[in-house]
Amino acid sequence: MKIREIAPGEAPPMALLLLADPSKKAVASYLDTSECFIAETDDGIVGTYVAGGISDESAEIFNIAVAEEAQGQGIGRTMLLDAIERYEAKGYLWLHIGTGNSSIGQLALYQKCGFRIDGVIRDFFTANYEGKIIENGIWCRDMIRLVKAL
Ligand code: ACO
Ligand code: ACO
Repeated sequence: MKIREIAPGEAPPMALLLLADPSKKAVASYLDTSECFIAETDDGIVGTYVAGGISDESAEIFNIAVAEEAQGQGIGRTMLLDAIERYEAKGYLWLHIGTGNSSIGQLALYQKCGFRIDGVIRDFFTANYEGKIIENGIWCRDMIRLVKAL
């Protein structure tokens, strides 16, 4: 598997990006100002992540997704480790990521990759997303913020 930045003019994998973030408006806004990477095998694109600087010292992963049929095989972890290496090499000191309070598997994965919880944006999803999001039987209301020192 190879991870590379999308080429100029190459379309970002929207269907995958919408798996991680159902808001087309939010996806469009961070795609505009960040870098989009894809993970591909001989079979095609299996994963993507979007990340970029948010200050001189900090970068953020805004979106990370693996094709449903390829989940649970270590691709998400490999992409997270790629982002950690890449943004450390760019000179950032901190890498941030946020996810829903209901995203138990994602919270597990991010912490296994060295991210630590450093805050909560209460009602982020109820204020910014249409409809009630239920995941793992839990109402997704708050954004859990995590950070890793690079
Ligand atoms: N308890 C403990 N560990 C768990 C749990 C759980 N309930 N659920 C998952 N995990 C662990 C697995 O055990 C595994 O860890 P391990 O390697 O130590 O065994 C890890 O989480 C999963 O690792 P991967 O196989 O690398 O993950 P995957 O390739 O499936 O990618 C991802 C993870 C990106 C979250 C994928 O499942 C996906 O695309 N989901 C849908 C979209 C999504 O939710 N994206 C993230 C939204 S937040 C954001 O974009 C910033
Ligand atoms: N993802 C989604 N839901 C989950 C997950 C998961 N990974 N793990 C558990 N759940 C859900 C179950 O699905 C179930 O929900 P449901 O009823 O909607 O299906 C619920 O959590 C578990 O419910 P119970 O069966 O009522 O829980 P149990 O009787 O096992 O009691 C307890 C829970 C007290 C945590 C018990 O497992 C225990 O004693 N654990 C060891 C001690 C401990 O950790 N105590 C809490 C420490 S914090 C404190 O004490 C304040």
